[in-house]
Amino acid sequence: MKSLLQISTLYLLLLLLSGCEEDAPDNPYDNLEYPTEQESSVVLDKQSIEGLHRDVFLPTCANSGCHDGSFEPDFRTIQSTYNTTVGHLALKADPSGNIDTRVKAGDANNSMLVYRMTENLPNSSGIMPLNVEPDSDWPSLKEEHIANVRAWINAGAKNMIDG
Ligand code: HEM
Repeated sequence: MKSLLQISTLYLLLLLLSGCEEDAPDNPYDNLEYPTEQESSVVLDKQSIEGLHRDVFLPTCANSGCHDGSFEPDFRTIQSTYNTTVGHLALKADPSGNIDTRVKAGDANNSMLVYRMTENLPNSSGIMPLNVEPDSDWPSLKEEHIANVRAWINAGAKNMIDG
């Protein structure tokens, strides 16, 4: 009898306790307004490394399985682009051996970056980009993009911080 009383008392207690559940505290993340993709108000110079990274290196070269860190040059960020191209020896030189640097500041004609987008280096995988994303603007803007890369290199291949 006594234990039945104890059990029913315990049950009652539990019932009472469950009745006074505290309101769940407000979740501050519930009202968080996530920033929408802002129209970039920053106007980038298309012939600067920042503009080239946005328009060419990131969308057309750093594709998955390509220059996305899988191998060099690494076009994932502006810094990795600069550090793995400017003054950096190429893995393969051109047949004359004159073009052996990925980006030779001030000399686009002797930069492998330009060479690989315009010439088919023998014994290589071909002209870059090897392939493009379905929505890529490369087929229509290729010449403009290459001209902008040339202009950046001939203007000294400045880094982001060089202003
Ligand atoms: C416009 C975009 C691209 C540029 C500027 C570019 C540039 C380059 C450069 C300069 C090299 C030579 C590196 C060296 O010898 O040191 C290279 C190699 C290579 N790239 Fe690209 N690339 C681009 C897009 C792509 C894409 C989309 C792929 C993959 C589908 C790719 C795959 C490769 C591979 C496999 C190599 C090494 C083999 C070889 O030298 O042919 N690239 N790329």
